[in-house]
Amino acid sequence: MKILIIGSGGREYAIALRLKEDKNVSNLYFAPGNGATSALGENLDLKTFEELANFAKDNKIDLTIVGPEDPLTKGIVDVFKSKGLVIFGPSKAAARLEGSKAYMKEFLARNAIRTARFLNSDNFEEISKFIHTLDEKVVVKADGLCAGKGVIIAQNHDEARDAAWEMLKGSFGDAGKTVVVEEYLDGFELSFFAICDGDNFVSLPVAQDHKRLLNRDQGPNTGGMGAYAPSPLADEALIKRVENEIVAPTLRGMKKDGNPFCGVLFVGLMIVGGVPYVLEYNVRFGDPECEVLMPLIDGNLSQILYDAATGKLTDIKLRDKFAVGVVSASENYPYKSTPKTKINLGKIPANAHICYAGVSEENGEIYADGGRVLVSVGVANNIREARNLAYELVKNIEFEGSQHRSDIAYQALRD
Ligand code: AMP
Ligand code: GLY
Repeated sequence: MKILIIGSGGREYAIALRLKEDKNVSNLYFAPGNGATSALGENLDLKTFEELANFAKDNKIDLTIVGPEDPLTKGIVDVFKSKGLVIFGPSKAAARLEGSKAYMKEFLARNAIRTARFLNSDNFEEISKFIHTLDEKVVVKADGLCAGKGVIIAQNHDEARDAAWEMLKGSFGDAGKTVVVEEYLDGFELSFFAICDGDNFVSLPVAQDHKRLLNRDQGPNTGGMGAYAPSPLADEALIKRVENEIVAPTLRGMKKDGNPFCGVLFVGLMIVGGVPYVLEYNVRFGDPECEVLMPLIDGNLSQILYDAATGKLTDIKLRDKFAVGVVSASENYPYKSTPKTKINLGKIPANAHICYAGVSEENGEIYADGGRVLVSVGVANNIREARNLAYELVKNIEFEGSQHRSDIAYQALRD
């Protein structure tokens, strides 16, 4: 199989690393890829969906896998499908589950899927009135994609009204023209992933991300500073509940709307008193969740994704292992960019590996050249061992200004 992977992060590197284990995968291509994916395949400098689809057609690419949300919400899948190409990911219409928070909330309400009580509105008076019906803490969200920045947790009603006013006035551009205001949910978060073929799904191990920059979930929000899976915080009963009360009705609802969902459905969950609420949908693998999920998938991943893309998903086998991934970020992350700096690698322990993300390559050397630079992943028979392996690897990687959290998986280990 010749496979094209769209994207440039650690997520795409992790998918590629896992696909390399499949005997039927002959060639990997990345668009655009990063400074390390070029060692796993060929990086392509193609920009438009048309150019990418023509490349896939001319080079007999068997399967294209889309990593990030941006091309999905802009319709890359529709362009590829219109040319008869096989691509794993949702259509532009289905990707609205992530692209528009207002659409997502209405979809949840229409399909009676549990979520925080909310109002979608572009009218400040209406928003103010609704805020007064909520408890003191209120969450205000811009409707559109804001690279994870459009969510404000307001500590009181005044702050919430100010946040909504700023968004409506244009602080997030068009993304904030409509605002979602919702009740604050007090619980713990889980990342739930299902591979879907439009009708059916298979669930992956439940993961937990660490979105804040600093230990014990302090500091600013980031794209994610580390993840682990499977999480003991999700027992069999909770998983069944999420499948029956959230994932299955989501697929039924999407199909009924004429937008069957194919690809990765990533449900951001808040568990409140044992009950799962949908915080958000994403329409792709999470990053860094993907880096810890890939080593847990057994069997032929390329075939699984091909089957899902062609509506023939059957089953998936999982390895009886645990994975922990620790992000090393550059000095100024998440505030501003950092000048590029060389990465010095020490020993890589057995059962640990690196997923490269924000890196570039020069004369065979890898440079830290982005916000989240790389993810150190450990795989073992339990979370503690996997975490020890990941941190042993982190210790052996050095670049100027490198920062990481030292408590990844703390909720699972309670230390
Ligand atoms: P979202 O992009 O909607 O997932 O929001 C980003 C982050 O904000 C989530 O991962 C949560 O940590 C937090 N968050 C969002 N909505 C709520 C809510 N209703 N209650 C509590 N925290 C929330
Ligand atoms: N790790 C969260 C995300 O990818 O959105």
